[in-house]
Amino acid sequence: MRKKIVAGNWKMNLDYNEGLALFSEIINMFKDEATGQQHAVVCSPFIHLHSLVQLAKGYHNVGVGAQNAHQAEAGAYTGEISAKMVKSVGAGYVILGHSERRQYFGESNELLAKKTDTALAHDLTPIFCIGETLQEREANQHFDIIKSQLVEGIFHLDATQFGKLVIAYEPVWAIGTGVTASSDQAQEIHAFIRKEIAAKYNQQVANDTSILYGGSCNPKNAPELFAQPDIDGGLIGGASLKSRDFIDIVKVFN
Ligand code: 13P
Repeated sequence: MRKKIVAGNWKMNLDYNEGLALFSEIINMFKDEATGQQHAVVCSPFIHLHSLVQLAKGYHNVGVGAQNAHQAEAGAYTGEISAKMVKSVGAGYVILGHSERRQYFGESNELLAKKTDTALAHDLTPIFCIGETLQEREANQHFDIIKSQLVEGIFHLDATQFGKLVIAYEPVWAIGTGVTASSDQAQEIHAFIRKEIAAKYNQQVANDTSILYGGSCNPKNAPELFAQPDIDGGLIGGASLKSRDFIDIVKVFN
């Protein structure tokens, strides 16, 4: 079933104590203010994961995730973290294919297809990110780019596996820039993504897929974005670092 999800991506912010303090605030506010019709997910740096999972115990609508996981099961990959390790601390989600990983760490669609397989094999829910750069949008290539990210990254999955994914559309030009996609621009791409899923799998699979919007999403613009028929929530960067802002975005689904 398609879920309403607001996921925070803390990126490389907050030391251990800061992260625990913020997450405790988020949990308390969620308990007091959210109606529970939505899911809140926090994707933290690896070092916070185990403790956040402990704090989230008993809150069925609060999830914890990593921001990356390696494609291999295990081995001589100094400095890397496996999907199995992420799962072993109780995390339920992993962001894959964020544009910062694609841009700064050279992650290709081909590599991300492998990471997706490994994450699913360990029963993690990938939050699979796609999105075009400004240059690609200006060259009117955005639909082609989105399509190739889908085809090469995740359309090798069978329908059952695909049903376990969450997709996030994050136009690169909207990330951390304060320039958000208009609700029309975002809806247009979300509808396109859903149409492509229906064409590859079937309409039921497309209807059941949660597609989140990410890129300068905040408590002010979230209501209009989330009111669009194909936008099922958000992947939130900067605004997820403030408990009040994050919870106000979560509460759009109250
Ligand atoms: P901002 O919300 O800071 O633009 O970041 C979006 C993002 O990259 C979430 O993954």
